[in-house]
Amino acid sequence: MTSRPTKTGFEESSPTTLSKQPLWQYLLQDYLQLYRTGSAGGSRLIRAHMADASALLAKAMEEDPPVVAGAGEALPVCVHLDRALSGASNYVTASLARSVGLIREHLVWRYGYDEVPDGLRLNFAFAEILGPVGPIRSDHLKLGLVLFAPSTTYPTHSHEDICESYINISGHVSENDTGVSAPGSLIFNPPGQQHCITTADREPCLLSYVWTGASETLRTHKLRFSENAGTA
Ligand SMILES: [Fe+2]
Repeated sequence: MTSRPTKTGFEESSPTTLSKQPLWQYLLQDYLQLYRTGSAGGSRLIRAHMADASALLAKAMEEDPPVVAGAGEALPVCVHLDRALSGASNYVTASLARSVGLIREHLVWRYGYDEVPDGLRLNFAFAEILGPVGPIRSDHLKLGLVLFAPSTTYPTHSHEDICESYINISGHVSENDTGVSAPGSLIFNPPGQQHCITTADREPCLLSYVWTGASETLRTHKLRFSENAGTA
């Protein structure tokens, strides 16, 4: 079998492990740093989630998980990725954005929903970074990226039996019309909490997400918009 080096230094046809993939390692280190050092804003619930996510991510990294990453797959919203990454440059998320930029050619962008509303096809996609199906394979937690075009409404949905947090990497968003989140902010959604996201008018938004929960739930959870999904 032939394999070829890529810009990220691994051979596409050969599965490898995290310890041999410095760029993926740095990316996870940047996630870990944000969860370990970010403020919980005085919330015991959020502090517990951040500690849980940090411990699970550290455990996943220590296990030197497989990394299976070949050519990425883009969706229309990826035209906004450059702008979203550069938009993080003055914030605490700058290092994470740079790390994302270095592995971007391997990201597989997906909608994740069986039925994607027309309004989202050009404006939304997510890419998994670590989880049961990879590219970094682990059953301990899921994490990845969500990219939104400017002026997007991501309809109401919830996640049963999963704790979700978003760290805003770039841009400004509002969840459930309850405030405005700037880069570096964390948004927490406990299991079952309905949430709807809107993004600012003239800038794209890149969020990182973390899901914690039972391995089986992480493996099988299906994304679904709520019935009568509201828009903000
Ligand atoms: Fe969500």
